[in-house]
Amino acid sequence: MAQRESWATRAGFILAAVGSAVGLGNIWRFPYQVGEYGGAAFLVVYLLLVALIGFPVMLVEFTIGRRTERNPVGALKQIGEGAWTKVGWVFVLAGFVILSYYSVVAGWILRYTAIGLQGNYAAGGAGAQFMSVAGGMDSVVTHAIFMAAIVTVVAFGIQQGIEFSVKLMVPAIIALLIGLAVYAGTLSGAGEAYAYYLSPDLGTIAANWTEILPAAAAQAFFTLSLGMGVMITYASYLGEDRNLAKDGTIIVALDTAIAFTAGLVAFPVLYTAELTDVAAGPSFIFVSLAQAFSNIPFGGIIGAIFFAIVTIAALSSAISIMEVVVSYLIDEHGVDRLPATIALGVVIFVVGLPVAYEPEGLNWLVVYDGFANSILLILGGLLLAIYIGWVATDLGIEELGKGIHNLGSWGMVWIWTLRVPVIIVLLIVLTQNTIGYYESLVGIFG
Ligand code: TRP
Repeated sequence: MAQRESWATRAGFILAAVGSAVGLGNIWRFPYQVGEYGGAAFLVVYLLLVALIGFPVMLVEFTIGRRTERNPVGALKQIGEGAWTKVGWVFVLAGFVILSYYSVVAGWILRYTAIGLQGNYAAGGAGAQFMSVAGGMDSVVTHAIFMAAIVTVVAFGIQQGIEFSVKLMVPAIIALLIGLAVYAGTLSGAGEAYAYYLSPDLGTIAANWTEILPAAAAQAFFTLSLGMGVMITYASYLGEDRNLAKDGTIIVALDTAIAFTAGLVAFPVLYTAELTDVAAGPSFIFVSLAQAFSNIPFGGIIGAIFFAIVTIAALSSAISIMEVVVSYLIDEHGVDRLPATIALGVVIFVVGLPVAYEPEGLNWLVVYDGFANSILLILGGLLLAIYIGWVATDLGIEELGKGIHNLGSWGMVWIWTLRVPVIIVLLIVLTQNTIGYYESLVGIFG
């Protein structure tokens, strides 16, 4: 195997992981999940799951990646035995599916940035505008543009491509988003919006937990880029002196803070425009929020800034998904980076075509997103938790201990968190999501 590239700077890894984590999950998906599952009630469950499930699973991916210095398929082939050597395939499959629709949605977001600059939100009606952007040839073209951008960055490699671009992107996202949140706080609907978003009603959680829990878990995995080996891949380029728990804490905290801030932007804008119908699903930021931007002063430019942030965030996340599959082709099949990246770009573009082209409605989006996000990611995370929790415990603790001088009994605390609560919650969530997914397929095709 050729000499493996590694992160050029100490901060490179953290920035790249934050770049992966912060994306459509935080700014497109998070607000509509909050809207669908009862505002602050969802927020609380989500925060709990990020800390109790997301963080331990992220450490699993880090330890496996740094130990093996391999892509996720190769990593499990190297350390696993029997069926464990095959787990990496779940990741590659998830990567194909996620990236294919991720690029489509990111293309719509790109388009909405341009629409804001022209001051045209909700021209001809917000719903009709979204349908014309989200289907047919327009949507295929923006999908192609976004895919080409991903291919370009990933083709330059992890130092010159990924690390270089996230160094610009991550600070830009944070600065712009904070600016928008401050602005949103001055709007007249802010007070009402904060009440909706920030004061949880425990009764709502208790009454709806069977719905909130699976949705919040899927959201936590998606937003932290867990369950398909991104963090395995990024940590595989990492030196042994890094404190994985510390890096993980920074990454999780930043990702969560950014999702939270996205809510601080979206809800005040909506309430100010008196559009309180928040449960709009995947079209939420394109229809309700775009409508709201068209109703407030300077909404065009504010909206353009908002959608520009999302575009940047989506790009740095999409490159991480691509990197998983590219690193697999490079490591395992000796393909050069450039041809590997271009070939994958084309194949994934084609896989995403149904989602891009579908003229009315978002059925294919629901089919792809439900399969990858609520099933494959949870399955991937569950298998990894079982593997380190019960099978390769020593390897996990040893690897985590490198770079942490006083790990002490924290290693076992981590292992026991994986062994019982993480596995039980993920089993419940996987069952619920599989049933829910089946029902949604019947609803669409049956
Ligand atoms: N975390 C990204 C987001 O929030 C999406 C993403 C990137 C992802 N890599 C991933 C999701 C790997 C699941 C798995 O938009």
